[in-house]
Amino acid sequence: MSKRKLVVLTGAGMSAESGISTFRDSGGLWEQYKIEEVATPEGFAANPELVLEFYNKRREQLDSVEPNLGHKGLAELENNFDVHIITQNIDNLHERAGSTNILHLHGELTKVRSTKHPELVYEIGTKPIKIGDKCEKGAQLRPHIVWFGEQVPAMEQAAEIVSQADIFVVIGSSLNVYPAASLVAYAPQTSPKYIIDPKDVDIPFGLSFYAIQKTAEEGVSKLIQLLKK
Ligand code: APR
Repeated sequence: MSKRKLVVLTGAGMSAESGISTFRDSGGLWEQYKIEEVATPEGFAANPELVLEFYNKRREQLDSVEPNLGHKGLAELENNFDVHIITQNIDNLHERAGSTNILHLHGELTKVRSTKHPELVYEIGTKPIKIGDKCEKGAQLRPHIVWFGEQVPAMEQAAEIVSQADIFVVIGSSLNVYPAASLVAYAPQTSPKYIIDPKDVDIPFGLSFYAIQKTAEEGVSKLIQLLKK
């Protein structure tokens, strides 16, 4: 019998217990930085050094954080389910936990790309990039990350995956940012839907999800118990 398709949409809360701050919690990243200055094309044009430094710091942090039990639990679920991770996160913790089927909606911290030839993407691990670092065709490099106001190229693929879900789970996202948040509308009506979050999250379009009001670590372990039944 083929494994049931378990589709998981993760957000910043997935990595909170690994020590990576979320965006909209108290003390979150958007309380320390202005989105328009560090996460928009206009911000990059106005002050590229500030933007490169913002991502250099977050990239460097990857060397000092580890996947948490939530990331690991999702990786283990691959033994019993056809697991598809769709993440809004730009960290590499799902990969490092052992998940093998990951779609990054908002890009990846460990990758950079050419500002003139977007098809030229380079893996740089946790190294910094600065003004003057160029692609093979001589154009400045930038983070391979989707900034506010930019297209989300993986959206169509993500919607297709969610539309095939036998079980759909949201973990650690306030579902505030579109188009990512609209993915909840693609899950088949008949498929069970769960949301893992310590807070009460407003689900778009009034859809009903079974709320596991716990952190990612405790919530994934609870989810695993529920799925075993
Ligand atoms: N475990 C699970 N969830 C948690 C935890 C935790 N330990 N701590 C906080 N959360 C929840 C919060 O309650 C909140 O609902 O994680 C969610 C984080 O929401 P946001 O900070 O808005 O993060 P996210 O939804 O991923 O933001 C989406 O916005 O800034 C952009 O591109 C960025 O991908 C990001 C997007």
